[in-house]
Formats: sequence, structure tokens, C-alpha cells
Amino acid sequence: MELFETKEKIDSYIKLCKQEGKVVGFVPTMGALHDGHLSLVKQAKKCCDVVAVSIFVNPTQFNDPKDLERYPRTLENDVKLLETVGCDIVFAPTVKEIYPEPDTRQFNFGYIGDIMEGPKRPGHFNGVAQVVSRLFDIIKPDKAFFGMKDFQQIAIIRSMVSQLGYKIEIVSCPIIRESDGLAMSSRNRLLTPEHRVAAPHIHKVLSEAVNIHNTMSVNELKEWIIKSINSNTLLEVEYVEIVDEISLKITEDWSEPGNKVICITVYAGEIRLIDNIKF
Ligand code: PAF
Repeated sequence: MELFETKEKIDSYIKLCKQEGKVVGFVPTMGALHDGHLSLVKQAKKCCDVVAVSIFVNPTQFNDPKDLERYPRTLENDVKLLETVGCDIVFAPTVKEIYPEPDTRQFNFGYIGDIMEGPKRPGHFNGVAQVVSRLFDIIKPDKAFFGMKDFQQIAIIRSMVSQLGYKIEIVSCPIIRESDGLAMSSRNRLLTPEHRVAAPHIHKVLSEAVNIHNTMSVNELKEWIIKSINSNTLLEVEYVEIVDEISLKITEDWSEPGNKVICITVYAGEIRLIDNIKF
């Protein structure tokens, strides 16, 4: 496995791979890797000749400086984990390497950027698009792999890819859960022991909601979800929406066509957890 910290070094390596006609897969991450990330690498290994993983805590996507400061950084352990799944290239640049100058680009995602996470985390998706486009320019992948836990992020990435005309296939991969149902996330390790015990309640309620959805209206189900999750005093729902899987249009009535996804954000103490479930 090769570890690169500069654009120049990774660029010559990627050029060689491309000259040899290799299919390059890419998994962008912010490190603090867990089995969810490793499942993306495994998926990439199945259909690509070379797999690159970036580890970069991107400052432009954090709208809360405290969140950026406490984001876990575990590079040494991440590199060890990546070895175990046959990752070929690790790219772990500094902030200066990615942003020699501030990135002033403003993306417009229209509707998909204006719902759910959009208004709750102003500037977040713009920062995600800035860094992912820069990483795409450096790695020049044929395919890029993203976890479905960040459901709205995948729609944003697809939009960015089409706006900037990249010829990159975006592959969305299933959510990986702990044995108690909690969606794997780098933020889980920031939970207090009490909040860690409480957090699986989120997935339990969402699974139950899918089972009982036909017994009530869309709005009643949303209220039921909020009440059921908040009944655990360590958890507090920030928002819940039921949206169309493709367009992300907010569902108002079950008769609307298309597959639905329940998307939720819950505070467990100071830690913001996101999750979703498909019908
Ligand atoms: O999903 C993440 O971990 C980040 O948003 C990403 C895609 C690596 C960009 O920093």
C-alpha cells in the first residue's frame, strides 16, 4: 500500500495506473475509519483494479468550529485498517495541500440542497462539493464509492458530478450497522457511554415505523417517530422527513408514486447522528 501526502506524488502514481489501463476506484473519507468505510473499500476492490482512499478532515464542510475541532483523527490506525482490506493507495494531504488558496466557489444544488441537512448545516454541502471535486481532480477516478448513511450527500455529489461534467460513476453502498442497529459513524466514538446505549433506539424506531406506516398518515407517522425517539430522554430529534428515493421530494401522502426513505437527524447529547431507512 502506498501512502501519499502531496498532489504531485499521487499524480505520478495515478498517471502510471491510467497508462496501464487500470480502473481506478476512489473512497473519499475523513478518517476515523470503521467497518462502514472498510465495506466501501471492499466493494471498490470488487470492480476496480486500483483503490485509492483519501483521509482528509475537510474544514470547509464544518459549519460548527467545535465539531471540526473534536472530529476524531486517527491516521495511524486508519492506515493499518486499510492494509487489512487491500487498499492500494492512501492519500492523506494537509489542508494547505488541498486549499493552497481559499475555495470561493459557490455551488447551487437547488431543491436538494434546500431541504433536511441543507438549512440545518448552512454551507455544509458547498464544502463537501468543494473538497470532493478537488479530490476527483487529483485522483481522477473511474468510480467513486459513498455510503448510503449520508443519503442526501449522495444526491449532492451526483448533482456536482453532472454540473462539472465529470465522467465518474457514483456507486452508493448500503449502511453498515453495529450489532445493536446503530448506523456506523466516525462520530459514534464521541458518544458518552450512556448516549451510546441510547443511540440504537433510533434504528429500532425507524424499523418499527416502516412496519406500521400503513396504519397512519405521513404526518402522523412523522409525529409518532419523533415522540417514540424523544421518549428516551437522552435523545432529541432535530428533524425527520419522508422523501422520494430519487428526487428527494418530501412525501405528503402514501399514494405518491416511488420508493420512500425516512431520513432523520437526532441529537444524542452534543453529538448529531444521522440515519435513514428505506421502505
Ligand atoms: O462523507 C464524508 O465522510 C465526507 O463528507 C466526504 C465525502 C469524505 C467529504 O469530505
